[in-house]
Amino acid sequence: MKTTFLSLIAALALASPCVAEAQPADTAQPWMNPALSPDARADLLAQAMTAKEKQQIVFGYFSTDAPWMNFKRLDGSPADAAGFIPGIARLGIPAQVESDAGVGVATQRSATPRLRSALPSGMATAATWDPSLAFAGGAMIGNESRMSGFNVQLAGGVDLVREPRNGRNFEYGGEDPLLAGTIDGNEIKGLQSNHVISTLKHYAFNDEETNRFTADAKIGEAAGRQSDLLAFEIANEIGSPGSVMCSYNRVNGAYACENDWLLNKVLKQDWGFKGYVMSDWGATHSTVPAANAGLDQQSGYPFDVSPYYSEALGEAVRDGWVSRARFDDMIHRVLRSMFAVGLFDNPVSDQSANIDYAGHAAVTQKDAEGAIVLLKNEGGVLPLAKSVRSVAVIGGHADVGVLSGGGSSQVYPHGAPANGLVVPNEGPDGFPGPMVWYPSSPVNGLKARTHATVTYNDGKDAKAAAALAAKSDLVIVFATQWTGESVDAKDLNLPGNQDALIAAVAKANRKTVVVLETGGAVIMPWLDKVSGVVEAWYPGTSGGEAIARVLSGEVNPSGHLPVTFPASVDQLPRPQQPVAGDKTGHPNVDYDIEGAAVGYKWFDKKGLKPLFPFGQGLSYTSFAWSKLSAQTAANGVSVSVTVKNAGAVAGNAVTQVYVSAPATAGWEAPKRLGAFDKTALAAGEAKALSLTVDPRLLATWDPAARAWKIAAGDYRVMTGTSAADLSPAVTVHLDARTLDVK
Ligand code: BGC
Repeated sequence: MKTTFLSLIAALALASPCVAEAQPADTAQPWMNPALSPDARADLLAQAMTAKEKQQIVFGYFSTDAPWMNFKRLDGSPADAAGFIPGIARLGIPAQVESDAGVGVATQRSATPRLRSALPSGMATAATWDPSLAFAGGAMIGNESRMSGFNVQLAGGVDLVREPRNGRNFEYGGEDPLLAGTIDGNEIKGLQSNHVISTLKHYAFNDEETNRFTADAKIGEAAGRQSDLLAFEIANEIGSPGSVMCSYNRVNGAYACENDWLLNKVLKQDWGFKGYVMSDWGATHSTVPAANAGLDQQSGYPFDVSPYYSEALGEAVRDGWVSRARFDDMIHRVLRSMFAVGLFDNPVSDQSANIDYAGHAAVTQKDAEGAIVLLKNEGGVLPLAKSVRSVAVIGGHADVGVLSGGGSSQVYPHGAPANGLVVPNEGPDGFPGPMVWYPSSPVNGLKARTHATVTYNDGKDAKAAAALAAKSDLVIVFATQWTGESVDAKDLNLPGNQDALIAAVAKANRKTVVVLETGGAVIMPWLDKVSGVVEAWYPGTSGGEAIARVLSGEVNPSGHLPVTFPASVDQLPRPQQPVAGDKTGHPNVDYDIEGAAVGYKWFDKKGLKPLFPFGQGLSYTSFAWSKLSAQTAANGVSVSVTVKNAGAVAGNAVTQVYVSAPATAGWEAPKRLGAFDKTALAAGEAKALSLTVDPRLLATWDPAARAWKIAAGDYRVMTGTSAADLSPAVTVHLDARTLDVK
């Protein structure tokens, strides 16, 4: 009955749209009733759609003119954007208008990019260890996304740092599944609070770029579930993303976007994911295998060889290669997310003239201030002392601004000239260039906060820089490592002459502080020769101000490393990266070498001493932890500890709780991060904290039983100022337990 009635309405609407428009919305379009559940609304709407219309909403186009692929963007699709799926006016289905990415509203390379606010890199936000900053940042980019006319934001990168040279590490949340998943999940939640769908990406094991189209990531089921997949699982639980984007690479032989294990079994069955899976741009390789393995939407045509989800999908359904039930499931998933996140009830349009850039500058600045990590502070060289009369600032275009990471996630900064570039002509001519600096100048920030004279030298001539250093009270070198999508860094050294420059400058004046703007970990051959090191990552569009505030002491640094900084690439599971392959020679990336022992877990297991450990981060005050205790709880282990600011200035303490299992438990490594917290404390203030260790972080995955299992025994619980500096342990006894997969 219902179907017939709705098809009648649909047919009428097609024949004469005016008739449909004249109907009151609630009877003509019952799916527009916000009181119904997203599932019910999706069902009602799907019943009113023709097969062709259904096909239309699972087939996405690129939203940028691409003459090299003989492609012009569709009418109504925004210029120089990531993707577009036309709406269906007669049914009130909005277009899906897709923008990159995780730090803000990006533009594909263009002479006239949209100029927007950018958060610090994903890695930087992870370095805050502060889910509330991640939420606020997500909410900010969600707002700019909708005000720019987008309703799908391709954010939420959470691939773990297995490969410190990965050109996209800056988009991700570091090497630990709990930290990365929690930060990313909160960013997604903030983003979607603006009724903009966020993706969670790139699912999964897309942990390097150079071979991303050809790599076949080999990983055992248990190792995968306890590492990268756990990060996705946690982010999914916290953020409930409308969509998950499957990645380019293969996983255990099958492309991620036609991988039954990843999509159907793990994501949809075990985690109960109710949203839709979209492919990365050019990551769909078939119609039937992809649809049956769980891919719901093809993205970014013409990046793929063929329009697999256009006519071919309709044919496959008519011929029975893809069941009608599966086809309906794809449609349901797309519509359900559009209803659940609020795309129907909160239509978008271009309101970019009204974006609150000043308000957003404050949000991104706060994120950057929480993210900056003080790594070395010999003799209290920082914060800048009042006695300092002359400061030499060297390199990194610090007179103009701060660096950002390259590729599809590139946000061009509000406040820049129309072409988005305050430093022209840097970086490759093609993708993932150009190099983009954000007009937030550390030099200007410093000048506003010190009576000392601040002199800038561009660092191109090491001799001249050293001469300036020699006659200055304090030297601050800005060192940069630009990384970008599609290509990994060739090594972990700072590029160009920067290592030599720092060595020369430090030789002239030991009171040298190096401020790093890098995608992730770098090696520091000059470390013993300098007095201070500050890791500022890619700090976003207010990054220069944030750096200046930390250097001057206006802000007490509280960032902690979300990744291990190795002493050399020889310490890595794969000192040499797999050789680049082509589309026929799929190189295997053997992630079983480290399995779930990613980052600090690998270093622990192998007894290696890194340059700086995971979790490291100094402060201008000091913190002390006491009264540590741990008890079993229904939902894992509950940990109590008191944290005190034992110094003379206010600061934010990061409490890191690590857990070790009895040897019989078969963990991948000696310890795991079990819980964390960031607490603001006035000088002398103490707070009692209660934290919970998620039971999955106490368990191993049993592939045969398809379940998490906790082994019986005594578990040791410690706090740490980093993964390499732990308190004495308390012990908690756990009984053997099997956890429901959900
Ligand atoms: C990237 C995705 C991005 C997409 C659209 C791809 O190359 O891997 O992260 O969302 O392009 O620009």
